Amino acid sequence: MHSAPPKSGYDQALRPQFHFTARTNWINDPNGLFYYRGTYHLFFQHNPEGIEWGNMTWGHAESRDLVHWHQVSNALLPDALGTMFSGSAVVDWHNSAGLQKGSTPTILLFYTAAGGTSPASTGKPFTQCMAYSTDGGATFTKYAGNPLIQELAGGNRDPKVVWDAEDGRWLMALYLDGDRFEILHSSDLLHWQKLQTVVLPGCDECPDLFPMMTHRGGRQYWVMTAANGHYVVGQMVDGKFQFSGAPLVGDFGPNFYAVQSWSDISKSDGRRIQIAWMRGGQYPGMPFNGEMSFPCVLKLHHDSAGLWLSRWPVREISRLYADRHQWNNLTLTTDKPITLAPSVGLWDVDLSVRCPAEASFTITVNGHDITYTAATEALTTMNTTAPLAARKGLVQLRILADVTSLEVYGNRGRTSVTGCVLPVAGSAGITVTCHGGNCELVKLTVHSLHSAWSTGSRPK
Ligand code: FRU
Repeated sequence: MHSAPPKSGYDQALRPQFHFTARTNWINDPNGLFYYRGTYHLFFQHNPEGIEWGNMTWGHAESRDLVHWHQVSNALLPDALGTMFSGSAVVDWHNSAGLQKGSTPTILLFYTAAGGTSPASTGKPFTQCMAYSTDGGATFTKYAGNPLIQELAGGNRDPKVVWDAEDGRWLMALYLDGDRFEILHSSDLLHWQKLQTVVLPGCDECPDLFPMMTHRGGRQYWVMTAANGHYVVGQMVDGKFQFSGAPLVGDFGPNFYAVQSWSDISKSDGRRIQIAWMRGGQYPGMPFNGEMSFPCVLKLHHDSAGLWLSRWPVREISRLYADRHQWNNLTLTTDKPITLAPSVGLWDVDLSVRCPAEASFTITVNGHDITYTAATEALTTMNTTAPLAARKGLVQLRILADVTSLEVYGNRGRTSVTGCVLPVAGSAGITVTCHGGNCELVKLTVHSLHSAWSTGSRPK
């Protein structure tokens, strides 16, 4: 039995104000992301009964703008096959599965029934199952023929389903074990055959798989990511994937995990939008545990460095903009900090800095340092160092600062660092300084942000 979570506000001291959190209790991976008729759906691994991991259930939230979220009833509850582990969603526009009623396309959720993780499923294996909605995503019914896929390897999980338009078939990426993933294919979303095994060294869990054109158009590639956000870019050759090279880092941060992207975003929009669970965040005394990263647009670039993805916050963040301040051509004298915002806040900061070869530049946001060191071409923040090379002598930084997180993007998303932080008592809001030489802040724009919970139209 699952009771409805008790009502709880969104105004506690450590409640993120523009990142999704559950009203109460534990969340982990984002699941079943799809867009349908103006609404972004976000399901998530949820323990409706506790502040720690357990009783895996799919929670559900909806948004019309990726910024204001509204948590609705839990969508998938544990059953005799197991608790509800991670998975994905698709809109079945052409009724491949034959489950459509009337003119509303069916929406299918693919998930792992984690046998053996509950008393009701003792002794059962992990299998891949499906639930469907014939009312546009309001309610879901588990498919009577579950499981769709029997155990392929012990602990196999996290099915990601995607349409392969070139070959006219559905594909599923499934985590097997170790660093192995299986790709399966299907014509009806119900019967699945193995296609190939993909090995992603250093990776496991929660695959994502999607086609992408390069930034400037051109040919179609396929991107496969794993839970840690690492990814490979490849091509389909004779109906099979060819991925080459070691997986690339998607984000260097300490709390970036279980990445997934939205399915079925309209062609006219065309964005591939990714979100992660900020694993390992600490929220002492809060009624919830866990938050999602801010949604980012992925773009595929092809240059002398090869094929790589950039990550950049969705433009809808501007819906939260409150005050705007801008500084141009501000010269920073070495070791002479300047405070630009006296008290802690919610920020979207965008800056370009010219930092000579012997210097380093630091912006401190809500008490947390973000440092660019020219000599090592490195961005350091939250105990993490990420590579970042100046371009024409300039480094660009974007920083989203919420109550318990920092998301730092270098050179328009070439590098990103996502992490959870705790407020630093008594710190200023924004301070800039440099060491080892003077720096020039060519342009710095600060938007203070409204809380997504208290402002704007809350959908539904
Ligand atoms: C990743 C993960 C998935 C699994 C889920 C269970 O964080 O371990 O592999 O499906 O969490 O909650």
